[in-house]
Amino acid sequence: MTTNWRSHLRPSLAALSVYDMPRARARARMHANENPEPWPPEVMAELSRLVGEVELGRYPDTSGRELRVALGEHFACDPAQIVLGNGSDEVISLLLVALGAATEPVLVVPAPSFIMYTHSARVLGYAVREVELDDELMLRPTPMHAALEGATICFLARPNNPTGTVWDPAVVHDLVASHPDVVFVIDEAYIAYAPGRSLWGTLRADNVAFMGTFSKVGLAAIRVGYAIAQPDLALALDKVRHPYNVSQTSIAVAHAVLTRFAETQQTLVDRAIAQRERLVALLGDLEGVRVFESGANFVLARFRQPTRASSFVAHLAARDILVKDVGALPKLAGCVRISVGTQDETDAFAASLADWRG
Ligand SMILES: Cc1ncc(COP(=O)(O)O)c(C=O)c1O
Repeated sequence: MTTNWRSHLRPSLAALSVYDMPRARARARMHANENPEPWPPEVMAELSRLVGEVELGRYPDTSGRELRVALGEHFACDPAQIVLGNGSDEVISLLLVALGAATEPVLVVPAPSFIMYTHSARVLGYAVREVELDDELMLRPTPMHAALEGATICFLARPNNPTGTVWDPAVVHDLVASHPDVVFVIDEAYIAYAPGRSLWGTLRADNVAFMGTFSKVGLAAIRVGYAIAQPDLALALDKVRHPYNVSQTSIAVAHAVLTRFAETQQTLVDRAIAQRERLVALLGDLEGVRVFESGANFVLARFRQPTRASSFVAHLAARDILVKDVGALPKLAGCVRISVGTQDETDAFAASLADWRG
């Protein structure tokens, strides 16, 4: 007998924590994988004008048609294959809900990878099979194959967060071809920072969907992500999706950037790549530190002595520079993730290295 409404809460929630980040105004915000480069004033003025034209009393288009058409042109695919989400976080949930036919559906993910895959799956009662990466923080094909037996869905972030590593295309192709019953979601959230390495266009299979987001390319504030899926999967996602899930202001801004300001956006990406290379050089100069090659807008550094990693993070925090200590994650003992900053932020980071005696 139910004695209390709390007995209706999903049991899986008890073990989960809330994904939360302090609202950080800091001298250097280098912990959140954003593109911090400011948009030029003339672009901001035009985007403001477009937002000013939004009729606030009216609903947006139910599925963001105008933006889906522009994305369809960009990716040379049918707009019907594109489903927008309020950030790609929402797209992850849509996929997990739509594919949840089994009594206990199964998610397979490399570990470590983006936290929301496992979080959202656990909320929904999925069994989660995490497969640790190898020492180079790349996929291990044999245990991946084993874990994929009888699985439902597998998210492959490429480049991966928080490692920045980019899975070997041959390994991905082989996994996809060997497990036709599993939906593989290739999450290319960071692909702008790994030019020429997208699998879009080369990895075509019935069991593959792609995910992308505007968040990592200068537009994190507007929360627009998307899936590109087979028409029947896209239709299923659309049935799960709430209508009007992306605001008209966000649709207008994303559409304008995609169709009119793509070149400017590319310059923001290029600048962030230049700052990443500065970070790689600065960290590479530190004694006892290995910097992993990154295809993303952040770098992962491993301190040979894990205690030095924590003292490094604390040293930076004392100077109001935020980076992410990821040392507690599988395979990442002694690792710190540092997201690209603006030139000024990287300068502050560089200055604080000068007086670090870790
Ligand atoms: C690999 C990956 N995918 C998806 C996301 C979610 O992005 P958003 O919800 O902002 O589109 C993130 C955010 O950090 C990420 O690292």
